[in-house]
Amino acid sequence: MKNILIINMCVMITLLFSEKGPDDKNIYAGVKRCKVCHETEEMGNQYTVWEHSKHADAYKTLLTEESAEIAKSWGLSLSAQEAPECLKCHVTGYNNSKAEFGKKFIKEDGIQCESCHGPGEAYRKENIMCDRDLSIANGLILPKPEDCLSCHNEESPRYKTFVYETYYEKIMHKSNPDYSCPSDEEEDEDW
Ligand code: HEC
Ligand code: HEC
Ligand code: HEC
Ligand code: HEC
Repeated sequence: MKNILIINMCVMITLLFSEKGPDDKNIYAGVKRCKVCHETEEMGNQYTVWEHSKHADAYKTLLTEESAEIAKSWGLSLSAQEAPECLKCHVTGYNNSKAEFGKKFIKEDGIQCESCHGPGEAYRKENIMCDRDLSIANGLILPKPEDCLSCHNEESPRYKTFVYETYYEKIMHKSNPDYSCPSDEEEDEDW
């Protein structure tokens, strides 16, 4: 009798957890998922700003001769592009498990939107993105200056004094104040 009770409890607990499924809030969708909406002039073209920033090349940097030399001087057994000591600041979500990356995600895209704005699988849908509170509830982060310091610090072999204002200016991207999300009326047009 006692055994049956325990088994029942186990089944119930399993059901409780399986119902939720994998938590999208932890899944990195990849910059290509953000590009589809954030590349237009109308939206403010944040993608193009990012694409031309050094963050987009952060992984490629690890393939250079210079990086090979740094890895050697640090006495790493792995190459720079394989070593956790380098990847942790040069790719997005380096610490996450395989299940926590969407199909379009590739590490070659370096420091992507989601390194700063949080994993985006759950918030990237338009109806959610159009509502700031809902986006934040689904994992969106609007980063603060101190968030940059997780990578811009003296552990970096090429550290330069980090001054937020001058650094932010080089990657500055904004919303277009004239953009307005489709209203409910427009969405119901087909009616
Ligand atoms: C389906 C289209 C769509 C996709 C895909 C999308 N966004 Fe958005 N995003 C929007 C819209 C619409 C807004 C709200 C309009 C605005 O703020 O100008 C927005 C706003 C934002 C904001 C500003 C939020 C605020 O309240 O100020 C950030 C940051 C953002 N998106 C990041 C991302 C990231 C990162 C991704 C990829 C993981 C992404 N978005 C994918 C449409 C999209
Ligand atoms: C997840 C790690 C990470 C975070 C967080 C991060 N960065 Fe970076 N950043 C890098 C790496 C790595 C590079 C070097 C890329 C390269 O050149 O290969 C870099 C380079 C830069 C550069 C170019 C510097 C130069 O020499 O021209 C600027 C500007 C910059 N970051 C600004 C920022 C700002 C502002 C923030 C916060 C809003 C920030 N970064 C957050 C990892 C990060
Ligand atoms: C703590 C985070 C961090 C770690 C760890 C880290 N980097 Fe970086 N790396 C950065 C940042 C941030 C920059 C941008 C330099 C700056 O402005 O401070 C950078 C810049 C560089 C640059 C110069 C890129 C350019 O555009 O000129 C090279 C090369 C580099 N890193 C290689 C490596 C290698 C190789 C490793 C591992 C041995 C490594 N980094 C580990 C954060 C890090
Ligand atoms: C290195 C960190 C970093 C990266 C990478 C990054 N952002 Fe941002 N983003 C910021 C910061 C910091 C702000 C300013 C937040 C604020 O003003 O409160 C910002 C602001 C925004 C805003 C405007 C929010 C507003 O209220 O005006 C949008 C939209 C946005 N980012 C989208 C993106 C998209 C899309 C990508 C990738 C293509 C991206 N960001 C990549 C750090 C980053």
